[in-house]
Amino acid sequence: MRKPIMAGNWKMYKNPAETTAFFEKFRPLVEKAEHCEVVICPPYTDIAAAVAAAQGTRIGIGAQDLYWVKEGAFTGEVSGPMIKACGCSHVLVGHSERRQYFEETNATVLQRTIAAMDAGLTPIVCVGEKLADRESGETEAVLSLQFRGGIALLSPEQFARIVIAYEPVWAIGTGKTATPEIAADAHRAIRGQVRGHYGAAAGDAVRILYGGSVKPDNVRVLMAQPEIDGVLVGGASLDANSFASIVNF
Ligand code: PGA
Repeated sequence: MRKPIMAGNWKMYKNPAETTAFFEKFRPLVEKAEHCEVVICPPYTDIAAAVAAAQGTRIGIGAQDLYWVKEGAFTGEVSGPMIKACGCSHVLVGHSERRQYFEETNATVLQRTIAAMDAGLTPIVCVGEKLADRESGETEAVLSLQFRGGIALLSPEQFARIVIAYEPVWAIGTGKTATPEIAADAHRAIRGQVRGHYGAAAGDAVRILYGGSVKPDNVRVLMAQPEIDGVLVGGASLDANSFASIVNF
């Protein structure tokens, strides 16, 4: 059985005071949520406040990105060991906004994924096709390229420690959710790649989250798909009530 992960990606929203206020509301609402793991990924500047506010709960805190060098003259960058030392358990890697605006490639996704694991963090590695890819029937080809270039170079031991998030770029922040069937098809394609490369047991074990306009009113139909092992939520994770109802789907 794959335990679902309900993860929130706050992107570039909230300050430390807003983070603390969020957790005050959110903590009691998810106290009984033992059916899943809960992870929140705030901006770097809110990590300390989030870790403090999540203390004594099962809520994990993650960063939204990391650099792959441990330390050095890289102004503006933050490394895996630094994130780990702040109390994080997870880190997002290869989010489509990083790919789109900050020159993330499959090769750098791989470097960051390895660096995350070296630091003892669980990487949530994001993949997903653009609208033009889908419209030209290239979805599976793009997912396959992202898998082969960014994931499949991990050793089987490394692969066993990652989480994959499928986020169709056309569904992120647009209010257009993939239908549960579209999402499940893509998850099946990704799981098929995993099976082909790492074997059936790895394919059965890997958790694949869906992301892209997940809301309290569509989370149930998505989670009803056996292929979907959790969600990665942007906009709807910013409000404590809304994210709690997603967690408690
Ligand atoms: P959204 O973002 O839920 O606001 O569409 C999802 C994501 O980018 O992780």
